[in-house]
Amino acid sequence: MKRRTLLGAMLSIGLGAAFVSPLGIGAASAQETVKIGLILPLTGPFASAIGRHVEGAVRTYMQQNGDMVAGKKIEVIVKDDAGAPETTKRLAQELVTNDKVQILAGFGLTPLALSVAPIATQAKIPQVVMAAATSIITERSPYIVRSSFTLPQVTAPLADWAVKNGIKKVATLVADYGPGLDAEKTFNQRFTAAGGEIVANLHSPLRSPEFAPYLQRILDAKPDAVFLFVPSGQGALLLKQVTERDFAKAGIRVIATGDVTDDNDLNEIGDIALGIVTSHHYSAAHDSPENKAFRQAFAKANEGRRPNLMSIGGYDGMALIYKALEKTKGDTDGTKLVEAMKGVSMTSPRGPISIDPETRDIVQNVYMRKVERVNGELYNVEFATIEAVKDPGKTPK
Ligand code: PHB
Repeated sequence: MKRRTLLGAMLSIGLGAAFVSPLGIGAASAQETVKIGLILPLTGPFASAIGRHVEGAVRTYMQQNGDMVAGKKIEVIVKDDAGAPETTKRLAQELVTNDKVQILAGFGLTPLALSVAPIATQAKIPQVVMAAATSIITERSPYIVRSSFTLPQVTAPLADWAVKNGIKKVATLVADYGPGLDAEKTFNQRFTAAGGEIVANLHSPLRSPEFAPYLQRILDAKPDAVFLFVPSGQGALLLKQVTERDFAKAGIRVIATGDVTDDNDLNEIGDIALGIVTSHHYSAAHDSPENKAFRQAFAKANEGRRPNLMSIGGYDGMALIYKALEKTKGDTDGTKLVEAMKGVSMTSPRGPISIDPETRDIVQNVYMRKVERVNGELYNVEFATIEAVKDPGKTPK
């Protein structure tokens, strides 16, 4: 039953040849194989923008780079947690105990990543967080390494930009869980430290959000701008409701983290997104040879789709695993792999990145962007770069 379920899941998400059969046919012998358990929300509300993008990017990386590293064959076992932390935890335990994976990876949302931290610690194997973005995650296990981003990291530059661009009063509206609260805290601190005023801090529920009551309160508070964060996949609904209330006419600018103007949904969101200023670590429009190659490869492997803020975490997370295995010369000891990941630096399609050896979190450029129409499609067009930003949200030691 388990195998049938897994095979069904693999077929339904259209895995390519680079992924070894779950039945083990054609797999190299155990000691020559590195097994990676990739756990993602591949069904449910977070599948489209998060799970499928991370999975598609992992597959893209392997199609480009092959499935052999330092003499070892890479086998990725994909599991769907449907966005439920109890399921993520159970799947991680099964992957460690039954499948004997040497690396756990994926983790589409903060609660899903947190649920696995004790398992990584106990099993002493790397947990590569490719998507979830609350600051605290990497502090929950010495075996966690992050290839995505953190909300404080991308929010701080936006607060600075707002102050410099004549925005004096801001209302914030964020999804009511880890990353939203991180974004709110960072925005409040940076903006008020520079003399700005926060007129409201509002929280919308993560599941089945209804934004109307909060948007009305924002209109009533009459700020110069509203700062928004909702997770990847929820931006379309939020921006539609913002537009219905005509914030522009009320003189309220919309600023947000790039999660709200996700490349996965931007064309569908349409012209109402034009002009929105966001800050983030990745835009499909990032102008570099590495990103051009990534976009082409991702589109080829994923029915013509463009990569988004989540794909890049999956792609670079695989690059990180490959680099670590090269450094250990194929040794899969978990502690050695985590040590090897510390301090890795590379040129990603998003720009230069490295893993901070102290925190195991990613250091990367943050870009200021504006939604514009380019060749008939909407993009987050970058107009400024803040280089090598560390996560400012870490608890002081
Ligand atoms: C998270 O749950 O950590 C998360 C999910 C989606 C985002 C950002 C953060 O876009």
